[in-house]
Amino acid sequence: MKPIELAENIYWVGAVDWLTRDFHGYSTYRGTTYNAFLIMDEKITLIDTVKQPYKSELLHRIRNIVDPEKIDYIVVNHVEMDHSGCLPEIIDLVKPEKVICSKMGHKALLKHFHREDWPYHIVNPGEDLSLGKRTLSFLETRMLHWPDSMFTYVKEDQILFSSDAFGQHLATSERFDDEVNQDVLMYECAKYYANILTLYSPLVKKLIAKVQEMNLPIKMIAPDHGVIWRANPGKVLDAYSRWCVHEGRGNALIIYDTMWHSTEMMAKAVADGLQDEGISYRLLDLRVNHRSDVMADVLDASAIILGCPTLNNGMLPRMAGFLMYMRGLRPTNKIGAAFGSYGWSGEAVKLMNEAMKEMKFTLCHEGLRVQYVPEHGELAQCVELGRTVGRTLNDFLAGKEIRSVL
Ligand code: FEO
Repeated sequence: MKPIELAENIYWVGAVDWLTRDFHGYSTYRGTTYNAFLIMDEKITLIDTVKQPYKSELLHRIRNIVDPEKIDYIVVNHVEMDHSGCLPEIIDLVKPEKVICSKMGHKALLKHFHREDWPYHIVNPGEDLSLGKRTLSFLETRMLHWPDSMFTYVKEDQILFSSDAFGQHLATSERFDDEVNQDVLMYECAKYYANILTLYSPLVKKLIAKVQEMNLPIKMIAPDHGVIWRANPGKVLDAYSRWCVHEGRGNALIIYDTMWHSTEMMAKAVADGLQDEGISYRLLDLRVNHRSDVMADVLDASAIILGCPTLNNGMLPRMAGFLMYMRGLRPTNKIGAAFGSYGWSGEAVKLMNEAMKEMKFTLCHEGLRVQYVPEHGELAQCVELGRTVGRTLNDFLAGKEIRSVL
């Protein structure tokens, strides 16, 4: 229950959730954390709270430093329940002088908790608020992750409290970036971006440009999930700069589902074609790969090849569900192609092509269907589809113009 000091008189007082494995449909095999921070100044300030079941952990950590009833201000950077679930009970206990939030945060708090009587203090973007020795500055970050989201920056300590942005769903005994395995950290950070922020990439791009333009010195980035970036905040800023433009790394993914293994046979033949063209690839069977793990791969893939047989004039439900999920997140800048086996109607390839067209993928093949079980010649066509994707990708990487065939 010990709080952790980030800087002199600034503490992490949040909670580690070792249990959660599903975060509204996102697989969280490594759990998560709900970070909250306490600033001891003339005005004692709590930045964010935690998910409701973790209220007592938060309070125990605060009590190690100060009586919670002495807290003056509560900053609500983001209203989603994982950060505000215990807010009504905390406000009832603390009776703060101010509940600080953005204009949209005020609206969202009213719609969540229906409490007109809280002492709201709505801050405008760029507004400063003195705590005594320290000054808080507020940056509006709409849609990162909700309309109400904002960042809080402590000028004197150069700490950016970034709410959901730059987070990771990662439960650890460590609290800082330099204390954990870097590969695990960057994978969880990428998976988090892929599943939570891909859709808002244009806003991430603008935000990073704005932070650069403001020339804001950032010594530390403290997100509301996962570890705090104290050793190398530039690492996560650089990663976000790459991810927000959906830059691929020249590789391909074959994402498929299969009924009687015909589409799986096709997938492996497509992979052979990619290999012929020197393309690195991954085969991702949706029966064994969770959609949110697949999205972590999609984030920096250059080509997406979808495979699915036809069922009831449509796609298998796992592929349909995956496409609905991926379309919602809107990855861009991908080369696409589709294949699948069928019995008599064979709509799945057309439906996958339509989904990729909607996402503005560059389709380099009209799609390949095989009736029932592929024979040698049909598998050779699958190899050729893989080669076509590989050649298109190599052209793209060489800076040549590529066009959709559909
Ligand atoms: Fe971690 Fe959008 O809440």
